[in-house]
Amino acid sequence: MLTPAQRRAWEDQGYLHLKRFVAEDARAALSERMAELLESFDPRGLSTVFSSDDQRHGQDRYFLDSGDKIRFFFEPEALDAAGRLTVPKLQSINKVGHALHDLDPVFDRFSRQPKLEALARDLGLVRPLLLQSMYIFKQPRIGGEVVCHQDSTFLHTEPLSCIGLWFALEDATVENGCLLAEPGGHRRPLASRFRRDGETTRMEQFDPEPLPADGLVPLEAETGDLIVLHGQLPHRSAANRSPRSRQAYTLHLIDGTATYSADNWLQRAPDMPLRGFA
Ligand code: FE2
Repeated sequence: MLTPAQRRAWEDQGYLHLKRFVAEDARAALSERMAELLESFDPRGLSTVFSSDDQRHGQDRYFLDSGDKIRFFFEPEALDAAGRLTVPKLQSINKVGHALHDLDPVFDRFSRQPKLEALARDLGLVRPLLLQSMYIFKQPRIGGEVVCHQDSTFLHTEPLSCIGLWFALEDATVENGCLLAEPGGHRRPLASRFRRDGETTRMEQFDPEPLPADGLVPLEAETGDLIVLHGQLPHRSAANRSPRSRQAYTLHLIDGTATYSADNWLQRAPDMPLRGFA
């Protein structure tokens, strides 16, 4: 699957940019399926926003129980102080997660395509498991920023094994809030862990030095590109103040030979164990 040059880039930089990985019909299938899911989504009574800034969602059952469900999280700026939508429903959602890949047949098919399994094995996962999926909207004008983080902070295994797959469903540019990453930053130790603590969560900081907010390089991507992110690679994305959305689908893999930490925020019901590509 990967050329020797791509393997070297992965080891040197902690990320890989695979251009034109997703065929246009496969991309369209995801977008159309998400449009149907949004159509049938009833926002009444729901008000869980996702904000990487304040992690308020970490106290919220609707979020904490979403590891084995398909749930909808609002943009902070899409709700007023009384929790009412300030924009049309279709422009209000920050992301949908976190088990699209297990619960929806269209996302299941996309997420378990054979070339992803070959890629996972090339990246060193001995027994790859599909842990988490998200459809990210990065809405025009109100798409929130995502502060600098390492994915293994949120999806922890021993030893660390998380790898993120980020599929551009639309063009991602500096203007509409593309990914920004620190080349080589995957050699940093894990700076923090987001731990579940009963009905709530807390961030445990290991490294007093904050992850870099500046000096990250933009990873601009075209529709259909795949960006692979090492679980310790610091990355972030800016708010989208442009008139164009920046939709992406993400899938996080872990190695089934590692131990999934019992105090990760994302937990699954016993009757819905993690599955690999089969
Ligand atoms: Fe991330």
